[in-house]
Amino acid sequence: MDNVIEIGLLGLGTVGRGVYRILEENKDVIQQRAGIKIEVKKILVRSLDKERGIFIPEELLTTDPKELIADPDIKIIVEVLGGINPTLDYVLESLNSGKSVVTANKDMVAEYGQRLFKAAENGNCDLLFEASVAGGIPIIRTLKQSLSGNCIEEVYGIINGTTNYMLTKMFQEGCDFTDVLAEAQSKGYAESDPTADVGGFDAARKLAILASIAFNTRVPLKKVYTEGINNISVADITSARELGYNIKLLGIAKERQEGIEVRVHPTFIPKDHPLAAVGDVFNAVFVRGNAVGDTMFYGRGAGELPTASAVVADIMDAARDILRNVPGLIGCTCFREKTVLDIGNIYSKYYIRLKVADKPGVLASIALVFGNKEVSLKSVIQKEATGKTAELVLVTHRVLEQNVQDALMDIKQLSSVLEISNVIRVEGEE
Ligand code: NAP
Ligand code: HSE
Repeated sequence: MDNVIEIGLLGLGTVGRGVYRILEENKDVIQQRAGIKIEVKKILVRSLDKERGIFIPEELLTTDPKELIADPDIKIIVEVLGGINPTLDYVLESLNSGKSVVTANKDMVAEYGQRLFKAAENGNCDLLFEASVAGGIPIIRTLKQSLSGNCIEEVYGIINGTTNYMLTKMFQEGCDFTDVLAEAQSKGYAESDPTADVGGFDAARKLAILASIAFNTRVPLKKVYTEGINNISVADITSARELGYNIKLLGIAKERQEGIEVRVHPTFIPKDHPLAAVGDVFNAVFVRGNAVGDTMFYGRGAGELPTASAVVADIMDAARDILRNVPGLIGCTCFREKTVLDIGNIYSKYYIRLKVADKPGVLASIALVFGNKEVSLKSVIQKEATGKTAELVLVTHRVLEQNVQDALMDIKQLSSVLEISNVIRVEGEE
């Protein structure tokens, strides 16, 4: 083997630029740690004329993917294009022809993980995707390697920075969802189409990847129960604060005897829970293993250099594996088939906010319905009684979700109940 490994970079946007910068700026230490020099041979872009903000030798850029994918000297393809088309084809072709692939693409890995791993097996090469979940936080390698002696009991955390920024603002300043979204967009945190972030879909993709690795079973994206933060109001924020909670959009995956729970939704967590202190655009992932106990990983979930930090570490791993002739050393770890439980089959506590008629007997009739459905109430607070209407805030003990849903169906039918304003799961306390 020559004393250099040549790589092809698909994409030179936010992450691609960061990868190029780190490989250039840290090249000496990278070479010493990897045991071989790593050099970018070609970079695929859409436009050759675009201002890149860093110096890139002109001859490196191309708009022809074949110059990377069909070049036998390029041993590692780094995919930071994003999206599925044409990206998936480029990646499958690379893997099938024996080129290791490093990607930051959660959309592609969450949706096509199985096909990608088959291609990597076929090509006897590495498929590494650390940056696809929680950007710079090394959580995939942690689960696959550092904690591999554990049975993982649960993994949960804040895996979307945009919504964490928004919820932090709403919580600290009491602002309304629409105003915070507009501000996040003006600061460039939220995209002009914020659906994937605020709707919880970005977090769902990351959670599907995390849960598949943690529980060694493929979790199809469509099985991840997903709720966004669109319905969180100032009234919910106020209640959370009064009850001693913070609100976070959590991705939660837990293993139970019957199957696994995999869900993304806004969640009340106690204000002294370590995740409650994770503010702004930061991410954090909490992992409980049966040997290690509780662990937490914190950092930046996005951005040029934090994301590129994870990509470069993967490139170095792929280079080491090629150098030592052990490509595909850690491949697909989904060797079990666990059932993903329906949302009705999960256990949680629930915060429920209701608008009701302000008259005697209303609370008793609601409590009776919950009792009949085996939903035990932990606390009930009456707020804002006007003489005509009142707001009730209830928190349940840990119960089966289906029982809560059944109770709420019946409660909706009560003439004294004007509105079920919100229902938010409560986690992180015994
Ligand atoms: P980006 O800024 O939009 O950059 C995409 C790059 O790919 C651009 O250089 C673009 O070329 C090139 N490109 C896209 N489609 C192409 C095509 N069909 N042919 C040739 N070139 C093409 O994207 P990014 O933010 O760097 O994200 C890249 C990936 O990393 C995505 O999968 C994303 O989900 C993931 N990721 C991003 C972050 C983050 O903080 N940005 C964090 C974690 C993961 P031009 O420059 O010529 O337009
Ligand atoms: N849009 C994502 C976030 C970053 O807000 O966390 C890329 O994964």
